[in-house]
Amino acid sequence: MKLQPARHIAGELRLPGDKSISHRVALIAALGEVSSEISNFSTAADCASTLSCLRELGISIEQKQDKVIFAGGQELSTPLGPLDCGNSGSTLRMLAGVLAGHDLTAELTGDASLSTRPMRRIIEPLEMMGAKIESNDGKAPLKVHGSSRLNPITYKLPVASAQVKSAILFAGLNATGRTTVIETSPTRDHTERLFNGFDVPVTTNLDHSVTLWAQGRFLGGSMTVPGDVSSAAYFVAAAMLLADSQLTIEGVGLNPTRTAFLSVLTSWGADISTTDVQTERNEPFGTINVRGGLNGTATATDRTLSGSMIPSLIDELPLLAVVGSQIEGGIQIRDAAELRHKESDRLAATAANLRAMGAAVEEFDDGLRVHGPTKLHGAFIDSHGDHRIAMAFSVAALIAEGETEIDGAECVAVSFPEFFPLLESVAQT
Ligand code: S3P
Repeated sequence: MKLQPARHIAGELRLPGDKSISHRVALIAALGEVSSEISNFSTAADCASTLSCLRELGISIEQKQDKVIFAGGQELSTPLGPLDCGNSGSTLRMLAGVLAGHDLTAELTGDASLSTRPMRRIIEPLEMMGAKIESNDGKAPLKVHGSSRLNPITYKLPVASAQVKSAILFAGLNATGRTTVIETSPTRDHTERLFNGFDVPVTTNLDHSVTLWAQGRFLGGSMTVPGDVSSAAYFVAAAMLLADSQLTIEGVGLNPTRTAFLSVLTSWGADISTTDVQTERNEPFGTINVRGGLNGTATATDRTLSGSMIPSLIDELPLLAVVGSQIEGGIQIRDAAELRHKESDRLAATAANLRAMGAAVEEFDDGLRVHGPTKLHGAFIDSHGDHRIAMAFSVAALIAEGETEIDGAECVAVSFPEFFPLLESVAQT
């Protein structure tokens, strides 16, 4: 994909449903007692992987335009072959939690990238609960031997991960008592919000631990999935970086555990507001308004992103590194070694690609220092087959001098197949 610089961003957007919410609501609807109609379901290839695995498990799912319809009252059954999770860590980890709580055996596989990602983080707690999981030395493929009478556990997460927390909570639905997950840094809380929204009580305690009170069944029902705020992030950043931009994104998810990047960009001088906030099944959504240019009211004194902020910025960090190259004094990211275990090593990929565009970057084991401001120049960008790297550097391409080529850009379909056409519709060259 070849991209040219843009003058500004202008327009109004509505985005396909949030990927994290879509995975979870698909699992909930598959386990629901009555039928569920899910509108604005994510168009991401990752969420299609979740649906196809559920179909392999015997769940009938009808798709009509952006609606996904589950009949309700269905039981999971032993699949005929391995369940292919594609590139999707969320599918593999959360489905492992679901399978752990059912009397069946199923194998979860994934593509080359997913097969290198760490899975002991789910194997350990799910085995403590009584499931048996065979793996390739802690990596996929995983063969899950589940049980519908798991032990309830209290488990402290060794890594801040919403996927692991969610795997334990989905397994906890079939544990014979109370399941508690203790988090040292809060991660996205969609599972907790949606369990409550679909009639299975989960409480968040003062110390951020979460408790699922007893065995539970979802009732099911309808939901419109809010637009994906992580997809919105690329448009917000592009509009911020190009003076004279004016962008509105309607109906987008505004869950506070996902929107930290908006406050970070505002503290770096962006003019961003949110309006029309409503909720759907406990998930807030609304409109994001951005005016271009750094407005000089920047509040950040130390532009270091670190510690407990990291989990709530995790998917936006490559993009924030790109934005950081345009900020007076630059920015620093620390405590983010987890980025090396995503769809690619996102610290290495971000550093190498920023340097290719002329930025000065130091790479640490757990982060990056990006100097700024630097006028970027067009370059050949290696996406490493990672959707978030491809999209972050498409934003860099818009503010660079000259043409940029993103190699492997089709990987954006993993989370956002409409990314390039929508970018073209709002970027004025
Ligand atoms: C996700 C959680 C995060 C995030 C991923 C989606 C989720 O992963 O990076 O894109 O939907 O729970 P971890 O939980 O592994 O940090």
